[in-house]
Amino acid sequence: MGKVQSKADKEILRINKLLKITEKITHLKDIEALLDRILIEARKFTSADGGTIYLVDNKKLRFRYVQNDSLFKAGRHSNKHLYVDHSVPIDQKSIVGYVYKTGKTLIIDDAYNIDKSVPYTCNHRFDETASYKTKSLLTIPLRTSRGRIVGVLQLINAQDKKGNIVIFSPNDIIYVEHFANNAAIAVERAKMTRAMVLRMMKVAELRDPKETGPHVNRVGSYSIEIYHQWAHNKGQSVDKIKQFKDNFRIAAMMHDMGKVAISDTILKKPAKLTSKEYEIMKTHVVMGARLFNDPTSDWDEMAAEISLNHHEKWDGTGYPGKIDDIFKEPIEFHPGKKGEEIPITARIVALSDVYDALISKRSYKDAWDEKQVLDYIKEQSGHHFDPEIVEVFFDIYDVIAAIRDTYKD
Ligand code: C2E
Ligand code: SIN
Ligand code: SIN
Ligand code: FE
Ligand code: FE
Repeated sequence: MGKVQSKADKEILRINKLLKITEKITHLKDIEALLDRILIEARKFTSADGGTIYLVDNKKLRFRYVQNDSLFKAGRHSNKHLYVDHSVPIDQKSIVGYVYKTGKTLIIDDAYNIDKSVPYTCNHRFDETASYKTKSLLTIPLRTSRGRIVGVLQLINAQDKKGNIVIFSPNDIIYVEHFANNAAIAVERAKMTRAMVLRMMKVAELRDPKETGPHVNRVGSYSIEIYHQWAHNKGQSVDKIKQFKDNFRIAAMMHDMGKVAISDTILKKPAKLTSKEYEIMKTHVVMGARLFNDPTSDWDEMAAEISLNHHEKWDGTGYPGKIDDIFKEPIEFHPGKKGEEIPITARIVALSDVYDALISKRSYKDAWDEKQVLDYIKEQSGHHFDPEIVEVFFDIYDVIAAIRDTYKD
């Protein structure tokens, strides 16, 4: 009797835990922050050393997120492994493809000893490139309650209390599937948020729609990675950093939303702007701040702050300077804000934005060579840019370059 009771107690505890972690994931809106959290919780629940998420994208399963304690623990806080361009076809030849196609959870006890009669084989690409040994695998479809599968969650190498690799327990499956179900719903919602942000920019016809998506995705990613390292250097806790990043990416993506108000003849001019045109162009920072003035979501306030300040410069030569009333007409520019008067979000976006503007081709300019761009950024340290941010930028430059290569124009 006592035994039964304690088993039931355990069940209740686990269900309670599941409810709590579900609660933790459902408030996240940024897709990357969400995938990060899903993997953390699913791995904790199953004591898995690693995990990966694939999401459906363009009729393929696209690798989106990876965590691995054995490999990544020692390293820095920003992580270029997140930014690889890897897709798996949707067929039954791979494990993740098989799970997606059949909609069934798959437990594998030994990845190097898979029955020859099954349609899938295990791809040891990751083991080979990272010199890691995958043994046990738990691969679960991310299925919403309406039955739509948005991707696949793969957990790698379950561990016992001593850290030995063991097989995934069939008892865990029902819980993990339930969790995956909630995760799928959150993923669908976060994908929708991201798509809405991108759509807002397209509707605004900011640029050629081909150019808009990659540019804002890159600026968002550079910015959160720089922030993560900067805040870590300042001794901030990982939890706090992640919470901030959840809003920061989206807000950073919207830095140029105020360009909606700029006419196409100026915005899309394939040549240098006249000084009069440039004065009009500069108003985009105030127009953006107006757009986000009525906070309806957590990121509005941050988006307004970034919009208003992303063209300020560390040495005080930027624009628009201190403005008391952003609604005052006509818009007047004042002496630029200086140093830490400029919010940290905007100091980071300033560097992300200029790096991306220089390294890419624009309608009005050619792409610069990488060396030219990096020399320019060094030269502008302490002038245009916060020297501390420039330092972090170079510290994590491999991550920056990986982001640039992932979101191609
Ligand atoms: P953007 O294209 O996103 O560029 C962002 C910032 O990158 C610029 O802010 C500037 O600080 C830097 N940047 C871009 N291209 C160059 C360059 O060739 N040399 C240098 N040294 N820096 C560069 P800025 O100047 O405040 O411009 C804001 C926005 O105004 C730009 O956003 C772009 O949309 C527009 N813009 C600026 N100049 C021109 C131009 O000559 N022609 C056109 N059509 N648009 C321009
Ligand atoms: C990322 O967006 O790259 C990581 C998300 C997080 O750590 O919150
Ligand atoms: C892959 O990385 O190619 C697929 C991984 C898997 O099928 O487990
Ligand atoms: Fe801008
Ligand atoms: Fe920009």
